[in-house]
Amino acid sequence: MFESGTGQFDSVDEVVDALGEQGYIADSRLATTVFLVNRLDKPLLIEGPAGVGKTELAKALAKATGRRLLRLQCYEGQDETKALYEWDYGKQLLYTQILREKIGQVVADAPTLEDAVDRIGAQESVFFSERFLASRPLLEAIRSDEPVVLLIDEVDRADEALEAVLLETLAEYQVSVPEVGTFTTKTPPYVVLTSNNTRDLSAALKRRCLHLFLDYPTAERELEIVRSKKTGLPDALAEQLVGIVRGLRQLELRKSPSISETIDWARTLAVLGVEELNATILSDTVSVVVKYDKDVRKAIGALPTLVDPNATVPEKGHGHGHGHGHGHDDQDPPAPASRQSSPRDDDDDEDDDGGRAVRAAKDTPGRFGNTYGSNPLGGDTGAKPITPPKVPAERGTRSFGAGLGRKRAL
Ligand SMILES: Nc1ncnc2c1ncn2[C@@H]1O[C@H](COP(=O)(O)OP(=O)(O)OP(=O)(O)O)[C@@H](O)[C@H]1O
Ligand SMILES: [Mg+2]
Repeated sequence: MFESGTGQFDSVDEVVDALGEQGYIADSRLATTVFLVNRLDKPLLIEGPAGVGKTELAKALAKATGRRLLRLQCYEGQDETKALYEWDYGKQLLYTQILREKIGQVVADAPTLEDAVDRIGAQESVFFSERFLASRPLLEAIRSDEPVVLLIDEVDRADEALEAVLLETLAEYQVSVPEVGTFTTKTPPYVVLTSNNTRDLSAALKRRCLHLFLDYPTAERELEIVRSKKTGLPDALAEQLVGIVRGLRQLELRKSPSISETIDWARTLAVLGVEELNATILSDTVSVVVKYDKDVRKAIGALPTLVDPNATVPEKGHGHGHGHGHGHDDQDPPAPASRQSSPRDDDDDEDDDGGRAVRAAKDTPGRFGNTYGSNPLGGDTGAKPITPPKVPAERGTRSFGAGLGRKRAL
C-alpha cells in the first residue's frame, strides 16, 4: 500500500486509483509511466497539446503522494536566478543598515581605504551565507526537508541556457552555491516537466527523462473526465458532446478544443438547461470551445453534420453562382468545414484582422499545429511556416558552473 510522502506505489492499478481519488483520470499507459517515475526516480517529461492534463497530472501526483508541489513556470528570457537562487539583496541591505555602527567599528581604525575594504571583504561570508539565500524552485526542491513534487512547467518556453541548468540539476539532484557549498537532496523530488512542443528540447534532456506523449484522450476517457467534473449535463448529452468535440478536432482549426474546453462546454450547456443538442444551441455557445474567429466559422459550418451526419447543409461559397469567387467571406453564412481551407480564404482573413499576422508569427508549429495526432494535417494557422530553432551541437555539455561562480553584488 502506498505510504504517503516518501513511499512507493505497489502497482499500476494503485496509481490509477490514487490519481482517481484526486480527480485525475489516468489510462494504463499514463499510470504505468507514473509508476515508473515513482520507482526509478527519473524525471518525467510530458509533451502534448494544450489542455490535455499535463500540468494537472503533476498537481494530482503531489496530492496523491502527499508531497508538496513546487512549480517553476518557464518563460522566454528567464535566467537561472529565477530557477535556482538569488541573493536577497533587500535583506542584505537592511542588515547592513541596522548594523551600520558595528560595521563602522570594524573599519574605524583602518589606516587606509584599502585596509578598510579588506576588512569589509573579510566579513563577506556573513552576507553571502544561507541566511541571505533566496531559494527558487530548483534549489527549494533540493533543500526541502520534506519530499516534494517539482513541476517544471512549459519547459519549451525556457531558453537553451536554462535547459542546460536544468540538465545539470536533474543529473545530480544537487546545486552548488560557490559562496555556501553544495546542497544535495535528502529524498529525490518527483520531477515533472511539461512541454507544448513550441521548440525541440535537447536530446540530452529527453534522454534523462521518462517520456510521455499525452494526446487528446479516447472518447471513453474524455467522457469519464467530463463525468468526474460533475458538470450537471445529463450523461447521454455529455456522451454526444464528447463525440462532437472530437469531430471539431478533426477540422483544420488553428487551435483544437482541449479537454478543459469540453468540460467548459458541458457546464455551459448544463447552465442553459439544454435538453437536447442541436446545431443552433451548439453554434450559439461554440465560442466556449473555439477561440479564433476563423475557427468559430469553421466550427459553425461543421456543427450540423457533427450533430446529425445526415443533415444537409446549404451549398455556398464557390457554388453560389455569382461567378466572382471569393472576397466576401464575412457576409457569407459559414461554409461547411470541408470547404473552408482554400488558400484564398486565408488571404481574406489576413485582411480582416490586422493583428493576425502578429499573432501568427508568434505561433510556432507544434503549439497549435500539426504536431499532434488528432490533427494530422496541421492547423490552418494562417501562420508563416517557422523553422524550429536548430539545436547547437554543444547543447547539454554547457555547464552552469560559470554562472554560479558569479558573485552577486551586495
Ligand atoms: N485526465 C484528466 N483527469 C481529470 N481532468 C483532466 C484530465 N485531463 C485534463 N483534465 C482537465 O483539463 C484541464 C486542463 O488541464 P491542464 O491545465 O493540465 O492542461 P495542460 O496540458 O497543462 O495544458 P497547457 O499546455 O495549456 O498548460 C484541467 O484543469 C482538468 O480539469
Ligand atoms: Mg499546463
